[in-house]
Amino acid sequence: MDRGQPDETTVRAAVALAGRAPSVHNSQPWRWEAGARSLHLYADRARTLPATDPLGADLVISCGAALHHLRVGLAALGFRAKVHRFPNPALPDHLAAIEFEPVEPSESHVELASAIPRRRTDRRAFSSWPAPDEMLRQLVETARAEGVEAHVVSGKARDELLIAIGKAADIQEADPAYRAEIRQWSGVYPGASAGVPAASIPAGSHQYGNLRMREFAPGSLIQGDRGLLGDDAGTLLVLSTSSDDDLSRLRAGEATSAVLLEATAAGLASCPLSQPLEVAETRELVRDEVLGGSSCPQLVIRVGWAGFNADPLPATPRRPVIDLLRDQEQK
Ligand SMILES: Cc1cc2nc3c(=O)[nH]c(=O)nc-3n(C[C@H](O)[C@H](O)[C@H](O)COP(=O)(O)O)c2cc1C
Repeated sequence: MDRGQPDETTVRAAVALAGRAPSVHNSQPWRWEAGARSLHLYADRARTLPATDPLGADLVISCGAALHHLRVGLAALGFRAKVHRFPNPALPDHLAAIEFEPVEPSESHVELASAIPRRRTDRRAFSSWPAPDEMLRQLVETARAEGVEAHVVSGKARDELLIAIGKAADIQEADPAYRAEIRQWSGVYPGASAGVPAASIPAGSHQYGNLRMREFAPGSLIQGDRGLLGDDAGTLLVLSTSSDDDLSRLRAGEATSAVLLEATAAGLASCPLSQPLEVAETRELVRDEVLGGSSCPQLVIRVGWAGFNADPLPATPRRPVIDLLRDQEQK
């Protein structure tokens, strides 16, 4: 064993935890290569969703979320990840090279890592109790520590965001290629290792007030008595960056993971929403009308309390580590 370096089992455990990251349509568009004293993250372009994500922005954000999950997992396993983002300009799909430095895991590292297997995308109605301002401030701080702004959207800006979400849904749903892609990637049978299972999609309508959630294949998740919940008080956060390149998207993905894990650790339910940023027209609307033209929107995240009587959500499937990780020499 190389002293001060993670052994093979530790690297595999960290890659397995990274694999639990959220990704657009649960496409898991990443792969890893292990070097002698390093680990490398690559975008897996074979898992692109051309109709949903024509810019490839969600793909890089998803990889960023996996990178942050890896960092959190490694820290709990006793290693600080030293990350070099886009280490080789000639290889734009080589998203990160990671080196390891031993650290003593702290209680907060372990707490955050333990949120990884508990986190779920919750597409159900949230309760009428809003998330406390102090918790929202903490989520904003968490994103900022990753170099990303998180805007808590309210008032007129929130109305504009809801309009943009509805408009994006109309535009996407009118596109046969988008509808085919949604059919291919959701409602998948048990035993599939990717895609959004019916068990994670609410049965029946899941529009909450003026918020339209993405339509997947028909779902089987029972929402319980919505009447008991009152009006959904979910909060919308918009994550944004100062530039709109792949480095910004990778960072936005890391911030996404950080915010979602922090929210999970605090007991909040959460759901990423990317539709308004997948369509050029509504991406511009969000930038100009919601953020006042000041920065580039990357992802919307909805947070709130799950209904007081809500069942735990099932885990979504993941690709096995053996399909995600190979040694560098095996090229
Ligand atoms: C970049 C990105 C965009 C996403 N967009 C949406 C979305 O628009 N609507 C939605 O319901 N879920 C969205 N998700 C959540 C994924 O569908 C979810 O992470 C995936 O199905 C795995 O499930 P899990 O998060 O419960 O593990 C998004 C996730 C990411 C990382």
